[in-house]
Amino acid sequence: MSAPDAVDLSDDRSFAAGFPHAFFTWLRAEAPLYWHAPSAVTPDGEGFWVLSRYADVDAVIMDPATFSSDKGGERSAGGTAIKDEPTAGKVLNHTDDPHHRRLRELVNKGFTVRAVAALEEELRTRTRRLLASIAPGEDMNFVTRIAREIPTQAICIVLGVPEEDRLELCDLVDAAIETPSQSVLAGEHLRRLRQYAQSRIDAKRAQPSDDIFSTIVHARFEADGSTLNDFELRSFFALLFPAGAETTTRAIAGGMLAFLEHPAQWQRLRAERGLLKTAIEEIVRWTTPSAYKRRTVTRDTDLHGQRLRTGDKVTFWEMSANRDERVFERPFEFDVARAPNRHLGFGAGVHFCLGAALARLELAIVFDELLASGLAFELTGAPTYMPNNRLVGLKSLPVKVLRSAD
Ligand code: HEM
Repeated sequence: MSAPDAVDLSDDRSFAAGFPHAFFTWLRAEAPLYWHAPSAVTPDGEGFWVLSRYADVDAVIMDPATFSSDKGGERSAGGTAIKDEPTAGKVLNHTDDPHHRRLRELVNKGFTVRAVAALEEELRTRTRRLLASIAPGEDMNFVTRIAREIPTQAICIVLGVPEEDRLELCDLVDAAIETPSQSVLAGEHLRRLRQYAQSRIDAKRAQPSDDIFSTIVHARFEADGSTLNDFELRSFFALLFPAGAETTTRAIAGGMLAFLEHPAQWQRLRAERGLLKTAIEEIVRWTTPSAYKRRTVTRDTDLHGQRLRTGDKVTFWEMSANRDERVFERPFEFDVARAPNRHLGFGAGVHFCLGAALARLELAIVFDELLASGLAFELTGAPTYMPNNRLVGLKSLPVKVLRSAD
C-alpha cells in the first residue's frame, strides 16, 4: 500500500470533509504505532503517538495504570484531548482511580437502569410529536431539524433544564465546539455554560426535583457521606452536553446519511424490525462520533518494538479501531444485521460511556419512529462536517421530505 499524504490530525480542518479514513487504513496496515510530529497548529507544540488498530486501542483503554486520563509525567498535565487540559485530575473523564471511582460512584446513582428506562415514554411521545410536524415537500437540514432534537431534549430532561433554555444552551455548545481549539469546549463559552450550570445546582439544592441531575446533586458517598461539590457538579453538567447530546446527534444524523447511501439497508430494517438492536450498534460503529481519545504514559513501556516514555502523549482512534479489517468483516460496509459487533464506539473499561444506555434508547426510539412514520428523505446537497477532530460528524445534512407513505 503506498503511503498517502500525511494528514495533520491535530488540525481540525483535516476533519472538515469527514473522517480521513484513507489515511487511517494506511496507518493500520503500515504504521500501527505512528509518531505524529507537531505541526504549526498542534496544541502545546508537542508530538504524540497515534494508535489505529483495534487490539492496540483496546489494550490502552484497558490499562489506565500505564495510560492515564489524568496526568502521567513531569512534562504533561494530562486530559483526554491532544492539548493538556486544566481540568485534568478534576473532571470525571479526566481522572484516574481512586478519584475517578469516587466520582463515578455518585453519578452512577443518577444514571440507573430504571432512571434511564423511565425516560422512554416521554422521549417517544416527543419524537412522535416532532415527526408529526414534518410535512412532505419540506426542505430541511436533518441535523438541526431532527437529529439534534431528541438528544438535546433528553439531556435537558436529565439535567432538569427548562425547555425554554434548551436551544440557547445548544447554540452555546455548538459555538464552543466550532471554535478552533483542541479542547472540546473553548474558554468564554465554557464559562457561560458553567455559570448556567451553577444556577441549576443552586435551584436543585434549594428544591430537589425528580431528574437525574437532582439525584446526583443530592447523592452521598458511601464511605464518608459527603456530596459532590459545586465545581464537580458544574464540570459534570458542562461535560454532559458535548459528551451526551453532541455525540448522539452526530450518531442519528450519520445513521440517516448511511441509510440514504445504502437504501437497501433501510428497506431491510423496515421489513425486519427485529433488527433494530443490531442496526443501532452498527450506526454507533459506523459513525463513531467520539473519534479519538488521548492518554499520557505513566511509566516507560514497549509497544510494537518502540519505547514509549513516561509523559508521552498517546492518542487512540476508536473510529479507526471500528473499521479494523482484523476484527470486522467487510468493515466499510454498513450492515444493519452485523453480528458480532464488538465496536469501541462507547469506549471500554473504567471510563466506559456513562450514557450508553441512554444513547441506545434514543437511537432506538428515533429510528423506530422514523420507520413507523413512513417519511422518506432525499439528499438535496452535499453534507457538511463539523470542523472538529474530537466530535466527528455531520454539521448539515440537506434533505427533502418526499412522501408520507401509509
Ligand atoms: C452515541 C452517543 C455516544 C457516544 C458515541 C459516546 C462515546 C463515549 C466514549 C467513547 C466514552 C469514553 C471516554 C474515554 O475513554 O475517555 C464516553 C464516556 C462518557 N460518556 Fe458517552 N457517548 C455517547 C453518549 C453519551 C450520553 C447520552 C451521555 C450522557 C447522558 C454520555 C456521557 C458520558 C460520560 C459522562 C462519559 C465519561 C465517563 C467516565 O469517564 O467515567 N455519553 N462516551
